[in-house]
Amino acid sequence: MRLAVIGTGYVGLVAGAGFSDFGNDVVCVDLDAARVERMRRGEIPIFEPRLEELVKRNLAAGRLSFTTRTAEAVPGADVVILAVGTPQGEHDGAADMRYIDEAAREVGRALDGFAVIVTKSTVPVGTADRIRALVAAETTHPFAVASNPEFLKEGDAVNDFMKPDRVILGVDDERAARVLRNLYTPFVRINDRIMVMDIRSAELTKYAANSMLAVRISFMNELALLAERVGADIEKVRKGIGSDPRIGPKFLFPGPGFGGSCFPKDIRALAHTARQHGATVEVVEAAERANNRQKRVLAERIKARFGGALAGKRIAVWGLAFKPETDDIREAPALTLIAELIEAGATVVGYDPAAMEPVRALGLALELAPDMYAAAEGAHALALVTEWKQFRGADLRRLRAAMAEPNLFDGRNIWDPEQVREHGFHYTAIGRGTLPR
Ligand SMILES: NC(=O)c1ccc[n+]([C@@H]2O[C@H](COP(=O)([O-])OP(=O)(O)OC[C@H]3O[C@@H](n4cnc5c(N)ncnc54)[C@H](O)[C@@H]3O)[C@@H](O)[C@H]2O)c1
Repeated sequence: MRLAVIGTGYVGLVAGAGFSDFGNDVVCVDLDAARVERMRRGEIPIFEPRLEELVKRNLAAGRLSFTTRTAEAVPGADVVILAVGTPQGEHDGAADMRYIDEAAREVGRALDGFAVIVTKSTVPVGTADRIRALVAAETTHPFAVASNPEFLKEGDAVNDFMKPDRVILGVDDERAARVLRNLYTPFVRINDRIMVMDIRSAELTKYAANSMLAVRISFMNELALLAERVGADIEKVRKGIGSDPRIGPKFLFPGPGFGGSCFPKDIRALAHTARQHGATVEVVEAAERANNRQKRVLAERIKARFGGALAGKRIAVWGLAFKPETDDIREAPALTLIAELIEAGATVVGYDPAAMEPVRALGLALELAPDMYAAAEGAHALALVTEWKQFRGADLRRLRAAMAEPNLFDGRNIWDPEQVREHGFHYTAIGRGTLPR
């Protein structure tokens, strides 16, 4: 099949490369000319495991190409995939639809025959109708509009895309359903997990999935703070409830609050949609409030440890990306922590295995260290915010020797409290009865 993918970020690039790996001819479009130039050379503008080899292989095979011009990519395409960003807009949590709208118009102008226009971006319910109207205003060619929400996780995106748990196709047109089923059948050969449904249900499914996960995290974060007050260990509670098959063990890890390019904006957009339609999603709104509080917990604890003021204190922050195995720092809890520490007068030094460049580009009053131990050198406290694997096995003796004062704030409960204390650290975790009561 011939495909055009509009928008080549975390989703579009993985999808474009993944579809081409199954033998499709894929042209990926991005407005960002420098990005396109790099991708043409086989360079990956983002950090995503296994993506580079996938892109290089398909570039070399001639099945994958990049352009800045939608007008070059769309003619002759059977399927046009919209994968542009839908960030939070300026008003009331609503999604900013300007990239979708512009991409839809450009696609409409470039159509030269029937194509299925599929939205992979996360978009509010009703967006397919909006796209249909925008495209129809630009073309007389026939086309179908469909929804195919994406469920990949940054950090494991290639695996998720190539072996999806399920593929959701929102369609209202037989021909579009057939084309999209054919496109995805090779991805789900072992277990046919293609679910065909109406477009609005598909659009809502994506927000429902992200909101459910966000609610789980916020629930565990609130429970962790309660566990501290009542002298319980949230790690034991987590395992206790996770073994119930109705609950399951995933997404029950307390931490410094969730961030990233999806959960925060998607729960706000869902709440906005609910308000627009006279409905409520109070559970989801509460999850956001709890998360905003949780993102300040580490900073509050560090300040409390030093009696409130942090002038003259050097604080190391391990992990800047919003989660491991990505360089994405959008709404990352580390950024909230860093801002609060700087505000309180601390000198902050950060380290992340992948996200140094995006953080440097923010121009914060933050030192960046070349490795994890260099970050800890002379620090009065260390806060672990993102649970990269390399932090789990940290050499605690070396760490203790590097630091000026042995204060560890473990935002992800990755260390064994006893072992860390044996090395002489004052250790504070989340929900493990480690706070002085
Ligand atoms: N990142 C994730 O983990 C993830 C997972 C599932 C769904 N989503 C959703 O997928 C969508 C894309 O997310 P992302 O993280 O890949 O975004 P991103 O910001 O990384 O990438 C979007 C890209 O689209 C390009 N673009 C914007 N307008 C364009 C146009 N008219 N023509 C060509 N290119 C254009 C931008 O230059 C940018 O490179 C969002 O709606 C997001 O909510 C993201």
